[in-house]
Amino acid sequence: MESFAVLPSVRVELGPDRGYEVVFRPLEAVPRLMRAAGLRPGRCLLVTDETVEALYRPVLEKALQADGWHPLVIVLPPGETTKSPDHLRRIYDAALTFGIDRKTPVLALGGGVVGDLAGFAAATLLRGLPLVQLPTTLIAQVDSALGGKTGINHPLGKNLIGAFHQPALVCADLRTLTTLPERAWTSGLAEVVKHALIADADFVTFLEAHMDALLQRRADVVAEAVRRAAAIKAAIVSEDEKERGRRALLNFGHTFGHAIELVAGYGHFTHGEAVALGMRAALYLSHRLHPDLPFARAEALVRRLPVPAGLNTCRVDDLIDAMQRDKKVEAGTLRLVLLRRLGEAYVTPAATLEQIREAWEHVRTTAP
Ligand SMILES: NC(=O)c1ccc[n+]([C@@H]2O[C@H](COP(=O)([O-])OP(=O)(O)OC[C@H]3O[C@@H](n4cnc5c(N)ncnc54)[C@H](O)[C@@H]3O)[C@@H](O)[C@H]2O)c1
Repeated sequence: MESFAVLPSVRVELGPDRGYEVVFRPLEAVPRLMRAAGLRPGRCLLVTDETVEALYRPVLEKALQADGWHPLVIVLPPGETTKSPDHLRRIYDAALTFGIDRKTPVLALGGGVVGDLAGFAAATLLRGLPLVQLPTTLIAQVDSALGGKTGINHPLGKNLIGAFHQPALVCADLRTLTTLPERAWTSGLAEVVKHALIADADFVTFLEAHMDALLQRRADVVAEAVRRAAAIKAAIVSEDEKERGRRALLNFGHTFGHAIELVAGYGHFTHGEAVALGMRAALYLSHRLHPDLPFARAEALVRRLPVPAGLNTCRVDDLIDAMQRDKKVEAGTLRLVLLRRLGEAYVTPAATLEQIREAWEHVRTTAP
């Protein structure tokens, strides 16, 4: 992949004196950006996972030390099971033994797992430490590192314990995307496509024109797509920080996707692959309610994402049951995010069970 050009940053604006920059710069620039965000060198906590540590700890640690920072590095095992009370406790123990005060920043270097967990530690240690998100996966760069949702899982469900805690700074080094495994890459692309479908019809056209280049991770196209997708997330969070309205639109395809992950067994599909399949069901329903929606076109875009087979072995009844148990079901009504037109999503209880069944049949019986 050729080198990335310098990209303009994106701002999350949360009120007159509250907001932060999402910048696309190499990790070497982090100390300078931290100063610009008002953080003064001293102790800091650097949380990462083993995979990311091996790739990116040296460059970041060296830059931090050269600028007068004294990082305590906490390295956790990679994977979703790390978002647990046990690993949270490990961060608490290390941080409190190290000696921190309310100005000690927590740097989260990694994907959404590290970002959510370290973010929650930052939200709760001493009632809130400054948080610096350094996302290294596509999902994290366009979604999880922006917006302040932090948390851990509970045996009864994902993300059930958490807090809103906005970062002081988000710095995404696009070069880190070159080392992502293939399925993590396409999983992230599913979220990029989702952002376009719910909020930006021009971006849908861009993705249609450049999907091959994106699948090959061509640097200039990746940079443009990441910046545009991050800008969509930033705009939605700026409008609705605590998910009282518009932010829920980011769940497009997710009620279906969560059901797929559950019924197929966690691990068969990645989260993004399940969301890609889920978006196809949501597009089908959207088209049933809004016949002018260019369904074939939108579905063709989603189907360019490689997704493994296996949904055909899931029973529709099980998928519908799982949807009804999703935490987003309010008072027994399935409220779904659907599209009115390309780039315009809304939440509605209008889809009937029969239509939902039809949507599942459509996705189950066509190749991914
Ligand atoms: N807070 C939010 O708003 C929000 C939004 C979306 C998703 N999430 C959460 O994000 C998590 C999923 O995020 P994810 O997909 O980034 O998962 P992840 O953090 O588990 O990362 C995926 C894998 O890639 C590895 N990795 C990370 N960066 C790498 C790199 N540059 N090169 C090579 N390998 C790398 C990691 O070690 C891990 O094994 C879930 O827990 C989900 O709940 C949170």
